[in-house]
Amino acid sequence: MSDDSLPAPVPVRTAAVIPAAGRGVRLGPGAPKALRTLGGTPMLIHAVRALAASRSVSLVVVVAPPDGAAEVKSLLDAHALPDRTDFVVVPGGETRQESVKLGLDALPPGHDIVLVHDAARPLVPVDTVDAVIEAVREGAPAVVPGLPLADTVKEVEPAAVPGGPEPVVATPERARLRAVQTPQGFDRATLLRAHETVTDEVTDDAGMVERLGLTVVVVPGHEEAFKVTRPLDLVLAEAVLARRRLNDGY
Ligand code: C5P
Repeated sequence: MSDDSLPAPVPVRTAAVIPAAGRGVRLGPGAPKALRTLGGTPMLIHAVRALAASRSVSLVVVVAPPDGAAEVKSLLDAHALPDRTDFVVVPGGETRQESVKLGLDALPPGHDIVLVHDAARPLVPVDTVDAVIEAVREGAPAVVPGLPLADTVKEVEPAAVPGGPEPVVATPERARLRAVQTPQGFDRATLLRAHETVTDEVTDDAGMVERLGLTVVVVPGHEEAFKVTRPLDLVLAEAVLARRRLNDGY
């Protein structure tokens, strides 16, 4: 029997939501973090290109600062981006969780996998993006890239006086801990349900899926997917970019 009798495999379309509405207070005064430049290009553009570099990603929704959607739209227009990818810009909210929800609300039907990626992780390699998509494709409802920790982590209680010594209450076994990054990848229906039903404050989207009682899996992350949070991270990001330019004319 020839393969002509089999139905063509249905392609699994992937959309990416990039929350970029944070002020980036820890980076110091200035423009919203995502609009600050690295190697002369806004961090957000690096992040958008990193996700659009995956051939599976056909739509990128950028969640802009609440008063900055027009500025972000013109930034996207001003930079070269792949033709095969659609781009949408929506204004964000007060919290990251709210911003992601606003991005999800803007998703048209037809994408079965959704990635959520922080604009603050501009240098994530495309192999990491593809590894996350692949694990969702293979059936995991939620996938996060993660790395083992170099530091030992202590759980503490609040200090008796602000800035005072903090009593340690526990030392989790380091080998079992992972520092998780983005993009986090989800079966679309699962992520929408999580955002509709979970109201607790969480720091990542996979945490909301955990609250639903569903399994979240970790795949290997990448050291270049680090989050640009503090001034020193900008120095590191510039160094990574300079090395890429030297190595492969990136
Ligand atoms: O503050 P944090 O570093 O955790 O932010 C992670 C990502 O969430 C950043 O890309 C930031 O722009 C985004 N964010 C957002 N809306 C907010 C706060 C943060 O889109 N209100």
